[in-house]
Amino acid sequence: MTPVKRILSGIRPTGHIHLGNYLGAIRHWVRLASQSPLGQQDQLFCIVDQHALTTMQDAQNLADNTRTIAAAYIASGIDPSKSSIFVQSHVPGHTELAWYLGCITPLGWLNRMTQFKDKAGKNQESALFGLYAYPVLMAADILIYKATHVPVGADQKQHVELARDIAGAFNNYCQKEVLVMPEPVIETKVARIMSLRDGTKKMSKSEISDYSRIHLLDDPDTIVQKIRKAKTDAFPVPETLEDMDVRPEAKNLMTIYAALTEQNTDDLCQKFGGQSFSVFKQKLSDMLIETLLPIQTHVRSLLRDKGALDSVLQQGAAVANDLANQNLDDIRDALGMVKRG
Ligand code: TYM
Repeated sequence: MTPVKRILSGIRPTGHIHLGNYLGAIRHWVRLASQSPLGQQDQLFCIVDQHALTTMQDAQNLADNTRTIAAAYIASGIDPSKSSIFVQSHVPGHTELAWYLGCITPLGWLNRMTQFKDKAGKNQESALFGLYAYPVLMAADILIYKATHVPVGADQKQHVELARDIAGAFNNYCQKEVLVMPEPVIETKVARIMSLRDGTKKMSKSEISDYSRIHLLDDPDTIVQKIRKAKTDAFPVPETLEDMDVRPEAKNLMTIYAALTEQNTDDLCQKFGGQSFSVFKQKLSDMLIETLLPIQTHVRSLLRDKGALDSVLQQGAAVANDLANQNLDDIRDALGMVKRG
C-alpha cells in the first residue's frame, strides 16, 4: 500500500444501515482513522445522499436515513474533531466535477459496471440515467479531494478502479497530473458479508426480506430471531476450513462471529466444530447484541439532538467545501475555463 495521505469513503442513505456496512466499511474506517496521524482535512467520511436518489426515495426517509448514518459514524468511533463527516449534497463541487468527468468517460467503461447490470436487470432500456451515471459521480466524490485511499467492501472495488481509470483519462486529456490516483482498501476477512437467507448473495439494503440482514439498530429480540432463522445446512458447525469453505451459510455466520470476536475462522472450527448450530447461533446473537447495543444507545442519543448533529455536518461540509473548491480551481484551470471574478 502506498502511504496514506487522505482517506475518503461514504455510505448511501437508502434503507437501513446493516451489519455488512458496519463490518465491511465503518469499522474499517475507524481503524484506519485511529492508526493514522491524519487530521480533519484528510479523513473524510460522507453520507452520499445524491447517490441515494438513483433509486426512488421517500423524502422524509431520506432525511432520517442521512442523519441516522451520520450518527452511526460517530457512535461507531469516527471522532468528528479528528475527521470530517459531511453530506454529499452540501458540497456542490461533487456534481460539477461529475459533469467534467462524464465528458471524458467512454460509455464502454460504464457498460462494464456489474452493479448497474445487477440493479437495472433485464430491462436496461427503462433504467434511469442517474443509475447509469452513478459511478462517474462516485469517481467525482473521490477525485475532488485527491483522496489516496478509499476503504470499501468488495462490491465497490470495481467502482474505485473505474475512478482510477477516469483519473488517468482526465490527466491525459489535460496533459497535466491534476487528479490523484486513488487506491481501494479492502479488509479481506469482512469484504463481503452475505445474506442470512442465502450465503451466495451479499447482505444488502435492497434485499426485500428483513430477515436477510441485521440492521445496525435492530433490538436484541429481533437479532436473536434473525440469527435463529438464519439459513444453515443440516450439518453441525464445520471442523475444518475446507469443510467451511464449501458451506456458504455456515461460512458467513462464522465469518461474522470471527470478525466480532477478533478471531480467525480456523480457531472457530477448533472451538465449535462438530457442535450443533443452535448453540453457535446463540453465542453469535450474544456477541452481536454486545457489539451493537452501545452503538445503538449512542445513535439514539445523538438523534435526539438534531441541532447538534446538523452542526457536526455543517462543520464537516465547511472543511470539505474548502478542499473541494481549492481542487476545483486547479481542475477548471486545467480544462481552460475562464476564472471566476
Ligand atoms: P453502499 O452504501 O452500498 O455501502 C457502503 C459501504 O458498505 C460496504 N458494504 C459491504 N461490505 C461488506 N459486506 C456487505 N454485505 C456490504 N454491503 C455494503 C460497501 O462496499 C461500502 O463500502 N457506491 C457506494 C457509496 C459511495 C462511495 C463513494 C464509497 C459513493 N461515493 C466514494 C466510497 C467512496 C455504495 O453504494 O455503498
